Amino acid sequence: MSSFLYLLLLLTFMLPILVNAQDSGAVEIGASITATDDATPWLSPSGEFAFGFRKIQNTDLYLLSIWYHKIPDKTIVWFSNDGITVPRKSKVVLTALHGIVLSDSLGKELWKSGTNNTDISYAYMNNTGNFMLMGSDGFKLWDSFSNPTDTLLPTQSMEIGGVLYSRVSETNFAKGRFQSRMLKGGTFEINPREMPTYNAYRSYYVSPTSDPNDKNNSGLYLSFNETGYMYIVRGNGGIYDLTKQKLPAPGYYHRATLDFDGVFTQYYHPKEFTGTPSWTVVWQEPGNMCADVKGVHGSGACGFNNVCSLDDKRRPVCECIKGYVLLNPRDEYGSCKPNFSLSCDDNGLSSAEELYGLLELRDIDWPNSEYAVQTPISEIECKRSCLSDCFCAAAIYSNACWKKKLPLAHGIRDQNFNHKTFVKFRKADLPLQGPNFPNKKDQDNLILVVSVLLFSSIFFNIMLLAVVCLGFFYIYRKKAIQHQPHNTVTENNLRFFTFKELEKATSGFKEELGRGAFGIVYKGAVQLSSTTTIIAVKKLDRMTQDTDKEFKSEVSIIAQTHHKNLVRLVGFCDEGRQRLLVYEYMVNGTLARLLFADVKPGWMQRSHIGLGIARGLAYLHEECSTQIIHCDIKPQNILLDEYHNARISDFGLAKLLNINQSRTNTAIRGTKGYVAAEWFRNIPVTVKVDVYSFGVLLLEIICCRRSVENFELGGGKDILTDLAWDCFREGRLGDLVEIEKEDESIKWNELGRFVMVGIWCIQEDPSLRPTMRKVSQMLEGVVDVPYPPCPSPFSSTR
Ligand SMILES: *[C@@H]1O[C@H](CO)[C@@H](O)[C@H](O)[C@H]1NC(C)=O
Ligand SMILES: *[C@@H]1O[C@H](CO)[C@@H](O)[C@H](O)[C@H]1NC(C)=O
Repeated sequence: MSSFLYLLLLLTFMLPILVNAQDSGAVEIGASITATDDATPWLSPSGEFAFGFRKIQNTDLYLLSIWYHKIPDKTIVWFSNDGITVPRKSKVVLTALHGIVLSDSLGKELWKSGTNNTDISYAYMNNTGNFMLMGSDGFKLWDSFSNPTDTLLPTQSMEIGGVLYSRVSETNFAKGRFQSRMLKGGTFEINPREMPTYNAYRSYYVSPTSDPNDKNNSGLYLSFNETGYMYIVRGNGGIYDLTKQKLPAPGYYHRATLDFDGVFTQYYHPKEFTGTPSWTVVWQEPGNMCADVKGVHGSGACGFNNVCSLDDKRRPVCECIKGYVLLNPRDEYGSCKPNFSLSCDDNGLSSAEELYGLLELRDIDWPNSEYAVQTPISEIECKRSCLSDCFCAAAIYSNACWKKKLPLAHGIRDQNFNHKTFVKFRKADLPLQGPNFPNKKDQDNLILVVSVLLFSSIFFNIMLLAVVCLGFFYIYRKKAIQHQPHNTVTENNLRFFTFKELEKATSGFKEELGRGAFGIVYKGAVQLSSTTTIIAVKKLDRMTQDTDKEFKSEVSIIAQTHHKNLVRLVGFCDEGRQRLLVYEYMVNGTLARLLFADVKPGWMQRSHIGLGIARGLAYLHEECSTQIIHCDIKPQNILLDEYHNARISDFGLAKLLNINQSRTNTAIRGTKGYVAAEWFRNIPVTVKVDVYSFGVLLLEIICCRRSVENFELGGGKDILTDLAWDCFREGRLGDLVEIEKEDESIKWNELGRFVMVGIWCIQEDPSLRPTMRKVSQMLEGVVDVPYPPCPSPFSSTR
């Protein structure tokens, strides 16, 4: 009796241990899973990661993989068999000799982990997401962390030689067109690759972690630490941060994935599902996939004849040009083919003008794919030249005629591209299908052609009319819906805030972000359309306008600006003496902080920022309904958003100058070192003062040094603008840029172009300075930059 009791006691005591054994994460030799809908995966002890078969949406195919088991979308972080799916009833077995072996339902081996004739004693699904094969001596013989696919997890690292491959698409896990690698030189790079030879094309992201002079200072491996920070560890133990942002406290999953679109992205996700959108982006590289994938080979971010643009999350999306259709209808990011024949054999039968037409598209460019450039030439001659040339598939016109042939590569849609783009089509096969880039003009053309074709039939004309009317009704309704006002939102989508609200949002104006000429800026958070938005609140302390109306009209002018290189105004407060402006918050701080830090940004980043500021200024000067002269362009007034895009801030606050109002006799605005000479002289102040300040700023960006170092001492060589001119004249451009020598992204001709543009901008004679529109075209390389004259031919007051 007593022994029975004893046994019972023992059993009760052991029960939890027995139950736990199942969840211990360990997998015995001989264990197997069969690919069916209800197959049980092997779980980690915490149940957070699972190893097993995942059914691929809308198919009867399975992928042997590892995934987050506790979150609703069960994101896959590793997969076997190069991402190739296997049929139902396939089986995975853990063997002692060959590790994990995957075979189909007939027993044919499909894949196995790369271990042979070893002595595996068990496998273990770790809580970190690592699936490990352990030897009897307790050593790890194989693990998924050392054989990554497209994702890295915390505690995983990537040594030199490590590679991640992008998938083909969201749901096709086979190897896609992009790869990221840790290279011998110490850099982490992302590049497109040629299929199927694996030839690596030019990288579009290169970490600045190579030091040819000091091997020990070069990168050794990429680390993703337990708390979710990614950085590159140098040979001497120094680190280069990839995760520059602060991550949320514990309670989050972290991962970094080379996404199928070629963007390397770090994400986090709350462990307890809270209903918020699933994965949040921490950082992504490159900043602009469409523009940053360059080089002469390959198709660019999208396939051939396809055009890349960024969506509102700054992810690339691809759309075939009008008249073209996808080669593989399921692969939107792939190549497109003309929906008509473009042939040189037609000529002779009838004239090219009879056979072909040109569609005018807007905002589209294919850099580098021209085979002929004609200049000087008129637009009409350019169009005629392309029409009658059987090689010409498209032409771009702006003073010169760039003729492009198939396949068109590196297609990019860019709102700032202000040349005319013409695409050839064959009249017999009107390009009625295929996604369109909205362009009123060519829609009109199409409607015209269609109506002519259908002219004989009154019935069809009536149908057409009905469709057009319906269309207009739809557009009108859509607009009407968009324009419905919200309670506290003005017509510009601006929000009124009460002072109390802002006081609460900033916790009583606690955290100071910076001090500017107009007041102090504080950090805060508000609830905007059901999400919490981080804001920067500028408390104006020095108002030139006293009347309410003037303040309101200034605010409304600022609110009317919409450009991706400007900081957006979210709302304002105007209560008695309290005047506050509420802006979106820029996570990456000021340009000054980036430029003058110890680790200098790479050339690609510098040129991207320079170009962004030029475009933003061109917009302020030429494209707003009211011209805005900034008057205080300097690195402290340029902010960087989460993608390191330059955003101009503090514009519209200096007294707004109307277009014909040329000179204000008030005190000099702006900051020493950046102000143009005309402020001191009796000549009109125009937008050209901004061009001057931009020139100084551009040189600072190029050189990553302050224009005014030791300015007070007056040492000649310490003034950057003089130094730039001297180096340029003597052909010593290399002395200007403090770039890690191995920065392969640096393009010397681009550098030369940027320096020349900078020198044009700082000309003492304002009329010699180009407009900002011209500046951005010169920086882009679409117009030539003439050799600049000496910026200050008469010894100046500077
Ligand atoms: C799981 O991974 C962690 C972190 O790498 C490691 O310390 C631990 O030993 C692993 N667990 C087992 C049972 O190997
Ligand atoms: C991870 O890295 C960050 C940034 O370098 C550091 O602050 C943190 O302490 C590290 N965490 C661990 C667990 O090492």
